[in-house]
Amino acid sequence: MLENVKEEIQATLKKYPVKKSAVMDLLRIAQREAGGHLTREAMDEIAVLLEMQPVEVNAAAKFYTMYSVARPVGRHRIWVCRNISCSLMGSDHIMKHLEQALGVKKGETTSDKKFTLDVAECLGSCGTAPMMQIDDEFYENLDAKKIDGILKGFK
Ligand code: FES
Repeated sequence: MLENVKEEIQATLKKYPVKKSAVMDLLRIAQREAGGHLTREAMDEIAVLLEMQPVEVNAAAKFYTMYSVARPVGRHRIWVCRNISCSLMGSDHIMKHLEQALGVKKGETTSDKKFTLDVAECLGSCGTAPMMQIDDEFYENLDAKKIDGILKGFK
C-alpha cells in the first residue's frame, strides 16, 4: 500500500534521528494515500518500517483526532471542540447547528462524502471559544450565522 510513496517515506525517515519518531508523519502519509482513513494493513506496514509493535502504531493513530482509523471520512473533516471553554460558550449549539446544516449526526459523513462531523477535546484556542477545526484551519468565535458562511465557502 505504501509502495507508491516509497521515496516520500525514505525522505521522511531521514528527518528523524530515531525511526520511531516518524510514526505520525508516516500515519499522515498513509491516511492521505488511502483517501482519508487508516487501514490495518497500512498501520502494520508502518510498524514493520519503523520496527515498532503494531499495537504501538495503532495506539498513536487512535490517540490523535487527526487520524481516522478504519473509518472512511469525507473530503473535509470538521472537529467541534467540546472541552470546558467551548462547552461554556455553547459548543452544544454549534454542534446542533452543524448537524442540521449538514443533515448528519455527530460522527457521520454527509451522503455526498463532503464532510465528516466529529468532536474534539481542547484544540488550544480556548480564548476564542466556541471554535471548530475544518481540515487544517481553525474557525473561532462561532455562531450559527458564521457557520453558515463558513460552510458556503466549501461549496
Ligand atoms: S476548550 Fe475549546 S479550544 Fe480549548
